[in-house]
Amino acid sequence: MKKYILDFRVSENVQLHDNYALLKLTPADGCPLPEMLPGQFVEVRVDRSPSTFLRRPISINFVDYPRNELWLLIRKAGEGTRTLCSLQADESLNLVLPLGNTFTLPESTQERVLLVGGGVGIAPMLYWGKYLKEKDYAPRFLLGVRSDKDLLQYDQFRQFGEVYVSTEDGSLGEKGFVTQHSILNEPFDRLYVCGPKPMMVAVARYARERQLFCEVSLENTMACGVGACLCCVEDTVEGHVCVCKEGPIFNIEKLKWQI
Ligand code: FES
Repeated sequence: MKKYILDFRVSENVQLHDNYALLKLTPADGCPLPEMLPGQFVEVRVDRSPSTFLRRPISINFVDYPRNELWLLIRKAGEGTRTLCSLQADESLNLVLPLGNTFTLPESTQERVLLVGGGVGIAPMLYWGKYLKEKDYAPRFLLGVRSDKDLLQYDQFRQFGEVYVSTEDGSLGEKGFVTQHSILNEPFDRLYVCGPKPMMVAVARYARERQLFCEVSLENTMACGVGACLCCVEDTVEGHVCVCKEGPIFNIEKLKWQI
């Protein structure tokens, strides 16, 4: 897919939570957004942050083509992401996009599909859920967070399928981790997962025990985003690969995780 370096304008910065902001962006020149696929990411240049030299990789959270809007869900993790979360409407942002691969579409719309997101790992699942729904699949979502106040974009997820929630403190949905949620007692054909690595490993173990198709979205440290710096390398059954180029989506059968 062709890649672009584009200036965007912040059309809205929605503070969803003390630690999260949702940036809604439109191309500064007013041109239509390029095609972007679920699971792909962008590299954001962080201006006004003297200690942030490298671009930051951010998952594509949602693409609203009718409004010509790209959404990025950003968690404050350091100076760079704090700067991004503080952007005001009409400020500009330079992005490289779209980067990385996409999820594998199920073969049949009859397949039972569960999209599992933990923490900021819910971000790519919203656009993937919309994409599946538009193609007549019936995705369901399982979202895992620490407590009820950490649950983000619930109403948006609800537009595209049933949503199940697990909270570590039991303040909403079922108490515990996503792998303890009762929805996993139901049969599924495919699982798609993004979140903290221990969560992805636990879901991958569940999938492997049942011989289910399972793809995970890796969040390895990234810098260049285009396969040049090698800082995102993952050891796979096909050798060492750059997550930014060959991923970030991988079938668990390709990974050398101790599942
Ligand atoms: Fe540089 Fe992947 S981020 S090679």
